[in-house]
Amino acid sequence: MKRILIGVAWPYANGPIHIGQVGGCYLPPDIFRRYHKMKGNEVLMVSGSDQHGTPVTVTAEEEGLTPKETAEKYHQINSKALKDLGVDFTLFTYTMNDTHKRVARDIFKTLYEKDHIYMDTMETFYCPHCEKFLPDRYVIGTCPECGQEEIDGDQCDECGALLDPEDLIEPECKHCGGRPELKESEHFFLRLSAFQEKLEEYVEDKDHWKNHVLNFTKGWLDEGLEDRPISRDMEWGIPVPVEGYEEKKIYVWFEAVIGYLSTSIKWSEETDGDWTKFWKDPDAEHYYFLAKDNIPFHTIIWPAMLMGYDEDLNLPYDVPANQYMRLGGEQFSTSRGIIVSLPDVLRDFDSDAVRYYITTIMPETKDTNFTWDEFQEKINSELVGNLGNFIHRVLSFTHSNFDETPEAGELEERDTEVIEEIEKRVEAISEKLEGRKFNKGLKELTALSRTGNKYFNDKAPWEEVDEDKESAGTTINISLRIVKALCVTGAPYLPDSMDELWVYLEQEGSVHEQDWKEAIEPIETGIELDEPEPLYEKIDLSEMREETDLRNSLERLDLRVGEISKVQEHPNADKLYICRVDMGEEERTLVAGLKPYYDKEQMEDKKIAVVANLEPAKLRGIESEGMMLAAQSDDKVSLLEPRGNVGENIKGTGPGAEMISFDDFEEYELKTVKKEDGKIIADDVVNLIDAETFKAKEEEEEEEGKEVERVGVALIDDEDNALLLKDSEGVVRLDEELPPGSEVM
Ligand code: MF3
Ligand code: ZN
Repeated sequence: MKRILIGVAWPYANGPIHIGQVGGCYLPPDIFRRYHKMKGNEVLMVSGSDQHGTPVTVTAEEEGLTPKETAEKYHQINSKALKDLGVDFTLFTYTMNDTHKRVARDIFKTLYEKDHIYMDTMETFYCPHCEKFLPDRYVIGTCPECGQEEIDGDQCDECGALLDPEDLIEPECKHCGGRPELKESEHFFLRLSAFQEKLEEYVEDKDHWKNHVLNFTKGWLDEGLEDRPISRDMEWGIPVPVEGYEEKKIYVWFEAVIGYLSTSIKWSEETDGDWTKFWKDPDAEHYYFLAKDNIPFHTIIWPAMLMGYDEDLNLPYDVPANQYMRLGGEQFSTSRGIIVSLPDVLRDFDSDAVRYYITTIMPETKDTNFTWDEFQEKINSELVGNLGNFIHRVLSFTHSNFDETPEAGELEERDTEVIEEIEKRVEAISEKLEGRKFNKGLKELTALSRTGNKYFNDKAPWEEVDEDKESAGTTINISLRIVKALCVTGAPYLPDSMDELWVYLEQEGSVHEQDWKEAIEPIETGIELDEPEPLYEKIDLSEMREETDLRNSLERLDLRVGEISKVQEHPNADKLYICRVDMGEEERTLVAGLKPYYDKEQMEDKKIAVVANLEPAKLRGIESEGMMLAAQSDDKVSLLEPRGNVGENIKGTGPGAEMISFDDFEEYELKTVKKEDGKIIADDVVNLIDAETFKAKEEEEEEEGKEVERVGVALIDDEDNALLLKDSEGVVRLDEELPPGSEVM
């Protein structure tokens, strides 16, 4: 039996955990923990919400909450999300708890008394306009490493570089945008330089570390360690425990890493556990899971703090930091409303499906990309199509052909080969999990399932069963053995579904309480199986897509002028017309529900505004290749009436198309607007962006002696900015005057 401490990077309580972080540092430790538990090892897995520091105060200001409210809010959200993902900590706490504050103060104080911490003056950024010191995230600017703009002063989320605000190119005050100045202030420093040699010794035998972790750490050591300021001028945080300096707060990073120790102590206080068995027994192994931007805090600063505080404490044995899992392509942009946060993802998908896909793209050695297309593809073809399919085939065949799980009769070569393969794969999975190669372990698992599918196909028990039931029984017995091996070895990866499967196979206990060796044990025979339900479901993103498509098509709204050449009544619908429409470069058929409002004659030869980039849709059996826009108010409906002429403008997407244009809005509605007393009005007064066109056109028409209908059609965003639709001849109007603020659809 081994004792293993798993430390997991503490998520800042300043927002919901992002799906990218799941592959980076939350899923791997849970797989590792579940595996070690099944191996019979004693595991303590700790983490919590990182609640202090500027990450939290900045968000609190943005959300209009106090830092404490923000910290509590996201602690709730994130602990629930991790739980829903099946990430099961021994203790997931938060840095505002008393034990943590006590331990953090004690470590600071002890290091200060031992002269590992000293006081000195330093220059830090100060905003003369705001009359404030600007710690960490209150300074923004350009990353000196990768050139990314508008990054926070403490680190670059793009390249992972750790920074001090002074490193930024073109620094700006977050509050006022002004240029901060350097100003002298007293601060406490961790004497990191004094740990140079000891740390060099410490990393000497760390050949088992990942290359990028070791290289990064050695890089820091080779440059020579510098003392680091570990206090900040701010209100939120744990006060510096030195008399007269309580106004200053302990730097959030110095304090947060202490959480690994304080939480272990808290766990002892709350249970009958003994934290010293994990921290003072040199045989206990410590693993820290985090993303690459956290590396030096865990391989240099935290070890130095531990060395200085108490020589008997265990240092990290391995820090299997991951690279970044990025969110692929623009489809992930938050403004488009596509889900990126863990709570949202778990609202829409099963946790095991999420765990499966993320494990296949875990950024263990290089940055990877999460895309929804690949998510759907992998779930449907691998999780459902391979693993789920094999399990379900075997179970339902057994259920319908055998009253109880059958014994294996005489084994053929093919059978023994498969049994050997089970043993070989289980061993390989074990090895990968042991070596923190989670992605490769899952590949072994799916390979075993593919073998199962092939074996089942080759043996064709559905043919055997009529001729030789005993031989079919052998095939089923061995197939079930594969299912069982998949269940046990799959449990760390897919905890919910494999537990369901286990209950189904054994009908008692939990797979998570089994010994890992169960994976290669023969199945229990003589058990009556219930009718199985498939473990996994196919994913169809088109529903989610439809919503997205609508938004996207609005954002890229392709509006054109069309001229109706022929109108017919729809044979199967009372309210619909079928119209042929000349769009210049092409003719289209549009189906429109305008019969209650327009006579056929009124429609003929009319110019209309057509949304040209919609997927064709069938309306009562007739395909409509677009949509004509109309405004509606109570029971009155009016078509939009563009001015431009089809077939004249050749600047559009094709010769002859007349485009209706406008600038881009992110979120808007189409509404009618009107000009009154020099103001533009929809439901309310709106700020017309393209007022020039509107005005010029009106004046012109007035001069020509035309009667002016002061109603147009505009896109209106949620801040009441309005943009008129216009074509080459001017503003798009309404056929019939409707009140301003009428909806257009
Ligand atoms: N809150 C930090 C982040 O999200 C990680 C802190 S890890 C700890 O990047 F160990 F310091 F808590
Ligand atoms: Zn300022």
